[in-house]
Amino acid sequence: RPNVTVHVWFIAKKERALYHTGPSVTIFRICQINQLRAHLARSRAAPDRRYMTVSIKTPEEQDRMRVAGRLAAEVLDMIGDHVRPGVSTGELDEICHRYIVEEQDAIPAPLNYRGFPKSICTSVNHVVCHGIPGDRVLKNGDCLNIDITVIKDGFHGDTSRMFFVGKPSVAAERVSAVSHEAMKRGIGIVKPGTRLGDIGHAIQRYVESHHCSVVREYCGHGIGREFHEDPQVLHYGRRGAGLELKAGMTFTIEPMVNAGRRHVRLLPDGWTVVTKDHSLSAQWEHTILVTEEGHEVLTLGASGEI
Ligand code: MF3
Ligand code: CO
Ligand code: CO
Repeated sequence: RPNVTVHVWFIAKKERALYHTGPSVTIFRICQINQLRAHLARSRAAPDRRYMTVSIKTPEEQDRMRVAGRLAAEVLDMIGDHVRPGVSTGELDEICHRYIVEEQDAIPAPLNYRGFPKSICTSVNHVVCHGIPGDRVLKNGDCLNIDITVIKDGFHGDTSRMFFVGKPSVAAERVSAVSHEAMKRGIGIVKPGTRLGDIGHAIQRYVESHHCSVVREYCGHGIGREFHEDPQVLHYGRRGAGLELKAGMTFTIEPMVNAGRRHVRLLPDGWTVVTKDHSLSAQWEHTILVTEEGHEVLTLGASGEI
């Protein structure tokens, strides 16, 4: 097999999609998305010859992403006051569900997504992500991530924040702050020409220099008409590696940071991800649009703060 890496880009004007063949020696002619898909299905590409289809949003689609993003952030703004000792995660889910459906006339994306049973994710203490809301009653000192994704007018907005129940422990405050700053550093370098590896590197370097660890098994993602689109946005990586960002791309940055070791375990419910060593874990998430000038955070809340 020729030992050569050819990165080939195609821009199919009609579908406004970029096709990246990844490390591959296959060269496609410029074609439309269905032709490309058919070709890929025929060409038994080796597993390491992965390809991506990264959608570029038109100005009109960007506006719709702005609306979806703002709504998701507004749910987080709304739920903050409800996070207090004695409330269950299931109650938080119900409040968010009603707000999204009744006040926002939007759809909670997690509900029935690949079988997920609730409308939001609530990940308490050593839960890394995808915690299922239920009977767990929050108590003073708990910390949790609330992850909200809404669909409005066909487009998704995805954002999450950490919340403290009563007074947080020093350790909880610290891992949350490290995850938040890591996300900010990742977002801060987003502009056309930046590569995904630059983002991963910035996040990983910050987190590890603060003696925390980056979860490898879950990552950020392209987002738009689909909840999870290409590309995968890893929160670790090598400078200069990976996909080059272009204006009009939309994706999330959502580093999961553990106070202890990076390893995780999936609980038998098939969703809840926990740290193997039971150390605390924290996560923040925003949906980002790449603009000609740099980037726009689509999921800012009323405070305007990242
Ligand atoms: N909102 C999560 C993310 O950031 C995904 C949750 S999928 C679910 O990508 F099914 F668990 F809701
Ligand atoms: Co996400
Ligand atoms: Co999310």
